[in-house]
Amino acid sequence: MEQPSTPSPATASRAVRLESFGGPERLTLREVPAPQAGPGQLRVRVTAAGLNPMDWFMTSDADTAARFGLSLPCGFGTDYAGVVDQVGEGVRGFAVGDRVFGGAMSRAIADHIVVDAAGAIAVGGDAHRTPDGVDDRTAATLTIAGCTAAAALAVVEPGPDDTLLVGGAGGGVGVFAVQLARRAGARVIGTGSAASADALRGLGAEPVAYGEGLADRLRAMAPGGITAAVDLYGTEVVQAARELGVPDARITTIAAQVDGITPANGADAAPGALEEIARLVATGELRVPLAAAFPVEQIRAAVELQAARHVHGKVVIDLTGQDARP
Ligand SMILES: NC(=O)c1ccc[n+]([C@@H]2O[C@H](COP(=O)([O-])OP(=O)(O)OC[C@H]3O[C@@H](n4cnc5c(N)ncnc54)[C@H](OP(=O)(O)O)[C@@H]3O)[C@@H](O)[C@H]2O)c1
Repeated sequence: MEQPSTPSPATASRAVRLESFGGPERLTLREVPAPQAGPGQLRVRVTAAGLNPMDWFMTSDADTAARFGLSLPCGFGTDYAGVVDQVGEGVRGFAVGDRVFGGAMSRAIADHIVVDAAGAIAVGGDAHRTPDGVDDRTAATLTIAGCTAAAALAVVEPGPDDTLLVGGAGGGVGVFAVQLARRAGARVIGTGSAASADALRGLGAEPVAYGEGLADRLRAMAPGGITAAVDLYGTEVVQAARELGVPDARITTIAAQVDGITPANGADAAPGALEEIARLVATGELRVPLAAAFPVEQIRAAVELQAARHVHGKVVIDLTGQDARP
């Protein structure tokens, strides 16, 4: 068993906080006492944090925040990567100095966070070992988007006989979903704007423009038919897939509720799915395009970029103080 490290005196620390719910203008970087690891917990010196739409959605107003159990003053951000700098009593398998990544719901963008050594993102946070070959900025992008992509593909189970339609394919979840579906042998057609076409090709998808006439464009691109679909943006791809005769059982969405369609949720990813994604990143078999990295002092600009919903890949916050120009 790892020995608990001696609790250190309150260390200077900073955290992104909201004192009222709302848009990016409510985000402030505050000096706070560093949290201390209790029994079963790790304290992590966070070096990088990845942004997801859920971050700003959850904190956008008081009613939404309450649905997620958030109250003021509130932290911000969920995906993190960093180094263990304190180990609580009873923790097994982690030691000071270990590189870790994971999720801590709406409190990850801080110099120090405390997470459960064996927990869940929404309850106490979680921690996974960062494999050699995966840098911290990349590790900070894996948890939410990687698990969600894995969960969505598990619903439709693409294989070599499939032509899979992916809606919003160039975004944070899309980059994982496209590559994982290609690895499963499927042909992948991904929706995006004209500006995303090269990025989609680079991931292994055939780009198609979203918007009016999507089903007609798909008929022309895939005369043999679309056989499965995952909508990572809303409902357009669900509707187009139905119009093209894809059975509901082979359609899923992560961003809407549609009668008859099984939704996918990152929390339902199979055990080991995240570790497998991290392994593929470490070996270079899967790559994570970073759309931009911002120093934590520029959190508002980073969230504005992410919330505009046209990023290709992931937006990352750097907490090391090293150069992280957008
Ligand atoms: N259920 C879950 O567990 C779960 C987990 C994670 C995320 N989500 C939800 O899933 C959605 C996607 O998350 P994400 O992290 O991938 O978001 P994201 O990174 O912000 O997605 C950005 C992408 O959306 C594309 N896009 C913009 N307008 C579009 C349109 N009208 N039709 C299709 N694509 C469009 C953009 O393509 P262009 O730049 O080419 O326009 C861009 O590549 C969000 O709504 C998020 O809240 C759900």
